[in-house]
Amino acid sequence: MKAVLVSRYGAPEVLQLSEVPAPEPGPDQVVVRVRATSVNPVDWHSMRGEPVLVRFSSGLTKPRQPGIGADVAGVVEAVGSAVTTLRPGDAVFGMSIRTWAELVPVKAEGLVAKPAAVSFEEAGTIGVAALTALQGLRLHGRVQPGQRVLVAGAGGGVGHFAVQIARALGAGVTAATSTANLAWVGALGADEVIDYSKADPTAARSRFDVIFDAGGWLTLAGERRALRPGGIAVNAGAGGSPSVVGLVGRMAAAAIISRVGDRRFVSYLANRTPEDLETLRAMLEAGQLRPHIDRRYGLAEIREAVRYQETGQAQGKVAVSIAGG
Ligand SMILES: NC(=O)c1ccc[n+]([C@@H]2O[C@H](COP(=O)([O-])OP(=O)(O)OC[C@H]3O[C@@H](n4cnc5c(N)ncnc54)[C@H](OP(=O)(O)O)[C@@H]3O)[C@@H](O)[C@H]2O)c1
Repeated sequence: MKAVLVSRYGAPEVLQLSEVPAPEPGPDQVVVRVRATSVNPVDWHSMRGEPVLVRFSSGLTKPRQPGIGADVAGVVEAVGSAVTTLRPGDAVFGMSIRTWAELVPVKAEGLVAKPAAVSFEEAGTIGVAALTALQGLRLHGRVQPGQRVLVAGAGGGVGHFAVQIARALGAGVTAATSTANLAWVGALGADEVIDYSKADPTAARSRFDVIFDAGGWLTLAGERRALRPGGIAVNAGAGGSPSVVGLVGRMAAAAIISRVGDRRFVSYLANRTPEDLETLRAMLEAGQLRPHIDRRYGLAEIREAVRYQETGQAQGKVAVSIAGG
């Protein structure tokens, strides 16, 4: 079977579509025939080994594991001896590792049933980005019905899911995005859309209960000003702090002002939980969540797909179809 491998850190040229042995499922795993996946920033961070902190987990001088990719949607092909929840032929989606491949072994708890009305291509864009949006809003932002939420970076993969999820959680949503994304982000169901190149979404004092900054581009001072007392600012990305020093400095400042003030500032790393995947499945089923797919690529075009996602200009998600998606 074919899989994308990375044997050294670098630009998309290091991605090699290679022939590798087909995997067998472990006892608690299933093997999924992958129909679709997508590109997330985490993929090119691990491809480049940047920021350098990535290398502490993935290998100091070269990747310890050559496989890459995190999102997955496909059909269960083989089932491990201890798996009782899935059967061959089940259509599933979720999140795992080394998913840029025709076949991938995944723990059964990392997958949920794909709703029939959602295509494999759509389901293959959900994993990382929608889990990040859901956990940022529900777990860390503690969004409650009736609250007012600002989503910044609403035109990206995480941000456009966050707009829809905040709405599904019952919040009133203000989406801040760049000029090119205003029209389609407005159609996601936000009550208000702000072009941040023309107006600062954090200009008004004490306006939001929760600020979800998908890219990490807002300033702490702006977030502090715009949060109501007791409000929470949640940062998924580190866009405004590109260096390790800048990032650590921002996190330290956030920790200090969270302690002394009445507003909290949270950064987090998303993880895979069966409960959150199930919530996303239910939101998809209910029509509350729909990916906006900007460009589509095949597995053989993975370098172009990554190159485009790395520009930061992709509108919503970059999908990668395998075997007809
Ligand atoms: N914490 C976690 O566990 C976790 C998990 C996944 C992703 N992330 C991080 O979350 C961030 C977003 O991920 P993603 O998948 O949504 O990436 P993405 O699809 O590339 O979206 C990034 C968005 O950031 C905005 N942006 C880009 N350049 C900007 C600039 N110079 N100033 C202001 N905004 C800019 C754009 O949206 P607008 O046009 O709407 O501004 C862009 O669509 C990344 O930094 C990623 O590393 C974190």
